Amino acid sequence: MKQFPATLLRLEKIALDYYEARFTWPRDLRVPLPGQILSLRIEDSTAPLLRRPFALSSFDKEKLEAGIIFQKRGHGTELLAAHKPGEILDVLGPRGFGFTPPKPGSRPILVAGGVGTGPLVFLANYLAAKGFKPLIVLGFRNHSFVPELEFTAEVEVVYTTDDGSFGYRGNPLMYLRDNPPLGDAAYYACGPHVLLEATHVLALETNSPCQVSLEEVMACMVGACMGCTCETNDHRKIVRVCTEGPVFDSRVVKWN
Ligand SMILES: Cc1cc2nc3c(=O)[nH]c(=O)nc-3n(C[C@H](O)[C@H](O)[C@H](O)COP(=O)(O)OP(=O)(O)OC[C@H]3O[C@@H](n4cnc5c(N)ncnc54)[C@H](O)[C@@H]3O)c2cc1C
Ligand code: FES
Repeated sequence: MKQFPATLLRLEKIALDYYEARFTWPRDLRVPLPGQILSLRIEDSTAPLLRRPFALSSFDKEKLEAGIIFQKRGHGTELLAAHKPGEILDVLGPRGFGFTPPKPGSRPILVAGGVGTGPLVFLANYLAAKGFKPLIVLGFRNHSFVPELEFTAEVEVVYTTDDGSFGYRGNPLMYLRDNPPLGDAAYYACGPHVLLEATHVLALETNSPCQVSLEEVMACMVGACMGCTCETNDHRKIVRVCTEGPVFDSRVVKWN
């Protein structure tokens, strides 16, 4: 992990309140993996805000270019969305444990919602490059929130919207229950807590592995403040998502 200045190369609105930012990556820094996070220090004219965490949504090894997909939620992301290409971002990363590829021959089933979209787009393209045939099921409220995303040809993509205005009517879990994947599935989920838990339950029912990326609100991001803890079923009892995650085996997480 390293703190570095990155040049913003592109910042595009890809859906209602959703943006994709691409920026430069230092040559001497290790290649980030899907599920890993970074933080951006966003300043306004009066004071610097706390660092804001985001998951990587892409990485281009040849161009040394990384990307994030983010939702405009509050003051920090509003300031970030107003940045212009050529401006410098203060980046700290990559950090955390990312997703682990499934065992050979399994079918990765990726379940994404809201701000969980970025890391699973990265994971889908990454696993496709490793020879897997991933299915990604992305859930949005309605058509206006459905972003334009880049996938390689090997990735099967299904969109769901709550109101049926685009793709399947319903949520990703409803889709997967209507269309159960064949063969050995390995589940991956990122997004709202309810979606993570529902994916965990589906994986348990089918005796499939499941990894989830937790998105707890973070302050220090270095394991000091205990603001991002999550209860577990293993000997650790409590983990800090910023240093021990954000990706966990769903069976280790204590779901409330
Ligand atoms: C590990 C991790 C990975 C993340 N990855 C992404 C990503 O890839 N793309 C993305 O868009 N966002 C991601 N987030 C969430 C992102 O960090 C927050 O949306 C951002 O920090 C909000 O900053 P803000 O100043 O705009 O909002 P604030 O003014 O700080 O808050 C605005 C509103 O958003 C809520 N909020 C803030 N942070 C979170 C959070 N973590 N979870 C739920 N609600 C929150 C606040 O409670 C408040 O209601 C991630 C968060 C974590 C912890
Ligand atoms: S954010 Fe402070 S311990 Fe994780």
